[in-house]
Amino acid sequence: MGHTLNILPATTLDYRRLAESRLPRFLFDYIDGGANDERTLRDNVADFQNIRIRQQVLRDVSNIDTSTTLAGQKCALPLALAPVGMAGMFARRGEVQGARAAEATGIPFTLSTVGICPMEEVAAATSRSLWFQLYMIRDRKVVRQVLERAMQQGCTTVVFTVDLPVPGSRHRDTRNGMLAESLRAKLGKAWQLGTRPGWLWDVAVRGKPHSFGNLADQIPNPTDLKAFRGWLDAQFDSSVTWKDIEWLRGIWKGRLILKGIQEVDDARSAVRVGADGLIVSNHGGRQLDSVASSISKLPAIAAAVGDELEVWMDGGVRSGVDVFKAVALGARGVLVGRPWVWALAGGGQQGLVNLLNTYKKELEVAMALSGVSRIGQIGQAQIDRD
Ligand SMILES: Cc1cc2nc3c(=O)[nH]c(=O)nc-3n(C[C@H](O)[C@H](O)[C@H](O)COP(=O)(O)O)c2cc1C
Repeated sequence: MGHTLNILPATTLDYRRLAESRLPRFLFDYIDGGANDERTLRDNVADFQNIRIRQQVLRDVSNIDTSTTLAGQKCALPLALAPVGMAGMFARRGEVQGARAAEATGIPFTLSTVGICPMEEVAAATSRSLWFQLYMIRDRKVVRQVLERAMQQGCTTVVFTVDLPVPGSRHRDTRNGMLAESLRAKLGKAWQLGTRPGWLWDVAVRGKPHSFGNLADQIPNPTDLKAFRGWLDAQFDSSVTWKDIEWLRGIWKGRLILKGIQEVDDARSAVRVGADGLIVSNHGGRQLDSVASSISKLPAIAAAVGDELEVWMDGGVRSGVDVFKAVALGARGVLVGRPWVWALAGGGQQGLVNLLNTYKKELEVAMALSGVSRIGQIGQAQIDRD
């Protein structure tokens, strides 16, 4: 692994390797892993690699513009940072650093319900309006309060995640004792921590407090992560149906984007309940293993409902070329999850800014070489079907 520390990181996978060298194993695997046999996780990435773009020449590409509008906001490219729980465990005040890097690049940042930094802290650190991701909490009073807080912080877009009625089976977490409390698990984790003194000092010590900031006012002792997790487990609502989305639509006046749709029927229901957008997503292969990759599911959904709401996708995007492919197959925009956390854990805020700028540059080059100058010109005609 030593040689990886001597390179200048250029790609998503370079940052992944750096993150691996800096994070305790159980945290790296928590980010890196997927559900069960990780088939969907692999397909998310592999299916992008199998898409071919047509090279088209001599079309005056001297003036390339990657900017676009996402959920009513001007963005430098059709990309946003996906909600990632506990980002503040992977880098010091990770959500703040992520939001700052997103702002510097001109793209939206989505704060997870189970982020470490509270939305007030993130909003105060940036001037770009936040997107907030919501899981349905059993106690609907809490949902109302969280949404009111979000509104007060200038958040206009809520991303509501629908593909986690129950958590997926993530075996790496079991293997590493991520969630276990036995002596053996504790010793295992302590050993992993001992091999990462840099992380211990920078994140574990200087990155405090480590509570779930957006929910901290709901339980008595928010810095006790274990007690908090117990509360969360009891409060995660697996009885949610489209009726609850109708209720949510009624109380949230901002934009509502449903995250975790894979089927055309569900996409039509999203339109029916008045969502402003949907994200074709399988939670980065962390939930139902063996469900198809999001990029393979995107075209049919975009064709069915793309005129009625914004269709987005996430899962497996690892470069600006992948952003191009997703847009060509009908996505209004894409989100990245693991890539931003790897860059942050591996290279800090500047590392993330560099990676996002690389995506932008790669997108520009792909546009130029495929003969288009504007995001709106990217479409099925750029995909090679021969
Ligand atoms: C470590 C980790 C934590 C995540 N936490 C959340 C979360 O709190 N809420 C949510 O809606 N999605 C969560 N996701 C899913 C991402 O938002 C996104 O759908 C997924 O990472 C996209 O796939 P990619 O990692 O291949 O880009 C998480 C993903 C990872 C890797």
